[in-house]
Amino acid sequence: MRVLVTGAGGQLGHDLLAVLQARDGIDATGLAHSELDVADRRSVEDAIAGVRPEVVIHAAAWTAVDACESDPDRAYQVNSLGTRHVVEAARAHGAHACLISTDYVFDGMAGRAYLEWDEPHPLSVYGRSKLWGEREMGPEDTIVRTSWVCGADGSNMLRTVLRMLREGGDRPLRFVDDQWGCPTFTPGLASVVAALALERRPGIYHVTHQGPTTWYGFASEIVAGAGGSRDRVEPISTSDLDPPRPAPRPAYSVLDNAAMRLQGMDLLEDWHDALVRLMVVLHERGEW
Ligand SMILES: NC(=O)c1ccc[n+]([C@@H]2O[C@H](COP(=O)([O-])OP(=O)(O)OC[C@H]3O[C@@H](n4cnc5c(N)ncnc54)[C@H](OP(=O)(O)O)[C@@H]3O)[C@@H](O)[C@H]2O)c1
Repeated sequence: MRVLVTGAGGQLGHDLLAVLQARDGIDATGLAHSELDVADRRSVEDAIAGVRPEVVIHAAAWTAVDACESDPDRAYQVNSLGTRHVVEAARAHGAHACLISTDYVFDGMAGRAYLEWDEPHPLSVYGRSKLWGEREMGPEDTIVRTSWVCGADGSNMLRTVLRMLREGGDRPLRFVDDQWGCPTFTPGLASVVAALALERRPGIYHVTHQGPTTWYGFASEIVAGAGGSRDRVEPISTSDLDPPRPAPRPAYSVLDNAAMRLQGMDLLEDWHDALVRLMVVLHERGEW
């Protein structure tokens, strides 16, 4: 089976390609941003016509949440129109399409974990641009919403905190304690996305590691895991951020992996276990 991954230079795209290439019977091609700009309709058509994939996993996105606020045109061009281009070309070639989307399609005000059947209401340009990307998908396609993604490469919370620790000093590390979500690590996420896409599962799936936490809780666990003192991490509230971040974030965007749970599928484990595994990889690489 031929599979094409967009955004293959990104943290999830990289691991998706690795998971697919390790599978027997899969001929996986990954195209990084430098090889395919999904905002360019003709290039997307040419790429899909060239690879002739049976499954397309669309992991490319402009993920700079704050920058999207000041350049909405680019956000919609990449995340909404880019998805239209990918789906249109996939459909023309009879390929199944799988989009990676985000917890930021929700406003976080429900006060409970979100089901796949809850009505989205994004607060930010990024969230809206991803939601409009979702709306390009057909009923047969797969949409995987995930949250707080961390991989061994790329810029993410785990690598940011480890860098802060490497830089030394005793400056407190302040993280907000009033935004809740589920950290999700690319090795596990990539395996589930690959399985859902290859099985051509239609509909929306929430896929995260289990266990809600805040950015403060997440940072504390990383610091403790790296042998530091949890006391170094201080909780603050979003309103204490100075300067405030341009994009509003949902206060509670925990995703209930209900579609998988209700179909008896194995969920990703608690995020603490996946964090330890990824920290081992980064330790071997000398990042802490
Ligand atoms: N990161 C998170 O916390 C998070 C949370 C929920 C959902 N998601 C979703 O998960 C997916 C994967 O995210 P990630 O964490 O792997 O992000 P990432 O590391 O930023 O990867 C996204 C990739 O897309 C590429 N890209 C940007 N604009 C493009 C364009 N016009 N054409 C083709 N490629 C383009 C980026 O290239 P450049 O680096 O050159 O821009 C990057 O390599 C995305 O759909 C994202 O919306 C992410």
